[in-house]
Amino acid sequence: MSADVGFSKGLAGVVADETSISQVQGDAGRLIYRGVPIEELAENATFEEVTHFLLRGELPSESGLEATRKALLDGRSLPQHVESLIDSAGKSAHPMKVLQAATAALSFSEGVVDLKDKEGNINAALKLTAQVATAVARFSRRRRGLEPVAPDPSLSHAENFLYMIHGEKPNKEEARTFDVALILHMDHDFNASTFAGRVIASTEAGLISSVSGAVGALSGPLHGGANERVLQMADEIGDPAKAKEWVLDALKNKKKVMGFGHRVYRTMDPRAKVLRSMLEKTVAQKSDTATYEILLTVHDTMIEQLSAKQKDYIWPNVDFWSGSLYRLMNLESIDYTPIFAVARVVGWCSHIVEMWQDNRIYRPAAKYVGPESAQFPGLQKRSS
Ligand code: SDX
Repeated sequence: MSADVGFSKGLAGVVADETSISQVQGDAGRLIYRGVPIEELAENATFEEVTHFLLRGELPSESGLEATRKALLDGRSLPQHVESLIDSAGKSAHPMKVLQAATAALSFSEGVVDLKDKEGNINAALKLTAQVATAVARFSRRRRGLEPVAPDPSLSHAENFLYMIHGEKPNKEEARTFDVALILHMDHDFNASTFAGRVIASTEAGLISSVSGAVGALSGPLHGGANERVLQMADEIGDPAKAKEWVLDALKNKKKVMGFGHRVYRTMDPRAKVLRSMLEKTVAQKSDTATYEILLTVHDTMIEQLSAKQKDYIWPNVDFWSGSLYRLMNLESIDYTPIFAVARVVGWCSHIVEMWQDNRIYRPAAKYVGPESAQFPGLQKRSS
C-alpha cells in the first residue's frame, strides 16, 4: 500500500514521474529540451530536428533527419472517414472540439498497444504529428468556406502547414518565424495536457486515444486556450489608449488577465521573450501594429501593477505574445490553440513513448472529506 504523500491542490509541486524530455526551471525562467536551452533550439534548429530530438532522445544525423522528414511527409494524409468528419463539423464548431473528435476518429484503426515497441510507437507518433497539422488546416479552410488544400511534399512541416491554411506558399522569413514558434510550443514537462495524455496512456489505452484526451485538456482557457483569449481581450480593448484602464479594472475585479501567470515560472517565461522579439521584428515590417500596441500597454500596466501589489511572480507566459505574431501572419485567433496542438502533439507523444518504457498506471490517492458513516432511510422516510 503506497504511503499517502500529502495533499496539494492542483498537484502543485507534486512529483508524479521522472522524465528526460524537458525541464521547466521556474525560478530561473529557463526551459531545456533534453538539456538544450530553448533559446539555442529556437536559434539553430528546425521543427523536424526537434521532433527527432524529443521523440528519440538524440539530435539527428543527416540520415536520421532525412528519415524523420520523410516520415512526417508520408504521414500527412487523412483517412477518408476523418476528412468526412471534419467536413461535417459545421462552421460554428470550435476547432479544438473538431480536432479532438478528428484525433479520436484517427484512433479507430489503432490496435492493442505494444509498450516496448519503441520504434513502432515513434513511427505512429510521427504519422499522428503530420495528421494533426493536416486536420487543423483542413477545418480552418472549411470553417472559412474554402476548399481544403492538399499537402505539398516539397515543403517543410511549418511551410506546408501555412500553405495548407492560406493556399499559397509562405515566404522564407515567415516560414522560419512559424517554425520557431512551433519549436517553442513543443514541450513543457508535466503541463496539464501532457499530464492528461500520460494518465490515459498509463492505462495502455493507445497513443492516439491518449492524444485525443490531451487535446481536450489543452483547449481550456487556463491552458492552451489562453492564446485565443489574449486576442479577444485586445479586440475588446480596441484602442491602446484604453488598455491601462482596462487592466486596472480587471485587477480591481480580480479577473485573470489572459497570457499572464504560470504555475511554475516565477519570472519571465523564456518562450515569451523569444516570441516578443520575433513579434517586434515582424511588427517593424508591417503597417498594422494596433494589436501589438494594445498588448504592449497591457503588458507594461500589468508589470507595474503586479509589482506594486507584491505579485511580481506573475509574468507574461507563452500565450501572451504568440497570438499577435500569428495575426500578423493572417492566421485567425480561433485557430491559435489548434496551432498550439500542432506543436505540442510532439511533446505529448514523446512523453507517452518514454513513459511506456517503465509504465505504471496513474492512480493518485483522494482526501475524503465526506461523512464517516451515514444511514440509508427508505424513500418514504425521507423528508420531501
Ligand atoms: C499555459 O503548465 C504549463 O506549463 C502550461 C503552459 C505549457 O506550455 O503547457 O506553459 C501553457 O497553459 C500557459 C498559461 C496560460 N493561461 C493563462 O494565461 C490564463 C491566465 N493565467 C492564470 O489562470 C494562472 O496564472 C494559471 C492558470 C496559469 C496558473 O494558475 P495557478 O498556478 O493555479 O495560480 P492561481 O490561479 O492560484 O493564482 C495565484 C495568484 C492569485 O491571486 P490570489 O488569489 O493569491 O490573490 O495569482 C493571481 C491569482 O488571482 N493570478 C493572476 C493571474 N494569474 C494568477 N492575476 C491576474 N491575472 C492573471 N493572469
